[in-house]
Amino acid sequence: MAYLLTEASQIKDLPLDKQTIRTLSEEMDAGQEVLPIVTDERAFVVKLCIQDDRSKCLEECRRKGYMLSRALSAAKIQKVAVDALFKGNEDRVEAFSEGLVLASYRFTRYKTTNKESLVNDFKFAERWKFTKELEQTAKAVFFARDLVNEPHSFLTAVQLAKSVAKAGKDFGFSSEILDKKKIESLKMGGLLSVNAGSIDPPSFSILEWKPKKAKNKKPIVLVGKGVVFDTGGLSLKPTPNSMDLMKSDMGGAACVAGTMAAIAGNELPLHVIGLIPATDNRPGQRATCPSDVIHMHDGSTVEVLNTDAEGRMILADALSFAKQYKPELVMDFATLTGAAVRAVGQRAVCYMSAAGKDINEQVEESGMEVFERLVEFPLWEDYGEQLKSEVADLKNIGGPTAGAITAGKFLQHFTDYPWMHFDIAGPAFLTTEDGYRGRGGSGVGVRLMYNFLKNYK
Ligand code: BES
Ligand code: ZN
Ligand code: ZN
Repeated sequence: MAYLLTEASQIKDLPLDKQTIRTLSEEMDAGQEVLPIVTDERAFVVKLCIQDDRSKCLEECRRKGYMLSRALSAAKIQKVAVDALFKGNEDRVEAFSEGLVLASYRFTRYKTTNKESLVNDFKFAERWKFTKELEQTAKAVFFARDLVNEPHSFLTAVQLAKSVAKAGKDFGFSSEILDKKKIESLKMGGLLSVNAGSIDPPSFSILEWKPKKAKNKKPIVLVGKGVVFDTGGLSLKPTPNSMDLMKSDMGGAACVAGTMAAIAGNELPLHVIGLIPATDNRPGQRATCPSDVIHMHDGSTVEVLNTDAEGRMILADALSFAKQYKPELVMDFATLTGAAVRAVGQRAVCYMSAAGKDINEQVEESGMEVFERLVEFPLWEDYGEQLKSEVADLKNIGGPTAGAITAGKFLQHFTDYPWMHFDIAGPAFLTTEDGYRGRGGSGVGVRLMYNFLKNYK
């Protein structure tokens, strides 16, 4: 099995016999950073990292988990057991296991032939506390990835709501789906204006996890952009290519649904509400025209000058809808701007915050811990001036520069509570394989939010 040595010099191939295991135990007792791994055919040891930088170190461990996963799939090995006798470095073993498990995802629903063989049967030492948690969290990430990878031919706005409600039953959170009639009676003009050019109705999902022993009195509300396909509307996207990935424009919704699944699956003692406004964005006959003025859910008016800036229209209604909960904190997730992609690429998330330094620090720390790194952009007042409209309260686009920030300023108009906005346009959908994050839908934000909420004070 030379491929193991060429792929990762840290991974050694060993025969599986009692003597080897005894030697390994001795090495580990002597403080060596090795981790024995047993598959249905052979045993390996993996050297974990010994870096000082905790964030980098954990990520290196996850990467090694991913490399082992690749090597095992190449050898068509599908069962793997991981064990170690560590004291004090459970976090690294956990990160390694996380990389190994997260790497086992493939979206194969529409493949009738040539399904790749993958390691998918994991056994972790029972005494490890994190095993059940890892299993639930990975399932939640895979659920989010599935949603993003589903094409619009299956995943309409109504189907998105149904899929999330079904997951609610499996993971234990509750859900209520508002249909078009209800959305009309609530006067969600932003969501309805984006939906106007579509032949499919919109949906609005309200998800809730409310355990008896919740630590927070006022809920935390998560809002996710659920644009199931973004053609740009009448401001049609310029080239066919720029539309290719737009089934992933509900990555924010997937993040919120996946987070609800992770916290319910792991029974976190927090009251959390998820809101998902959903529709496709199309240039149908009744489609919103650039220059149309829309009456939003909160009563303000918006001049739509570009129908491709649709995410903020549906999020605005959800953000004003959130006010009724008197939330402690609202966090929204959206594949909102190309500007965010250009600024940080696929390897980071831009965020803007009106939630205070303490919360920012906690979220950034979670970002480093799970390696979904965050970069803060400002919400300076003067950036909002770009949104002034001649005819309405505000317009839906700013100038040619600072597009991620002006989008954030637009959203801020609809909030009156501690709030954070995450623009996940870069990392939500990966066009090339990026380690254990995989290819296609990455489920970005689920591990970040789970970690943040787990440590929330
Ligand atoms: N869904 C797009 C943003 C996007 C772009 C996500 C690339 C992922 C990859 C969003 O609805 C959009 O089209 N935004 C416009 C806004 C502009 C018209 C103000 C953009 O960023 O170009
Ligand atoms: Zn758009
Ligand atoms: Zn969009």
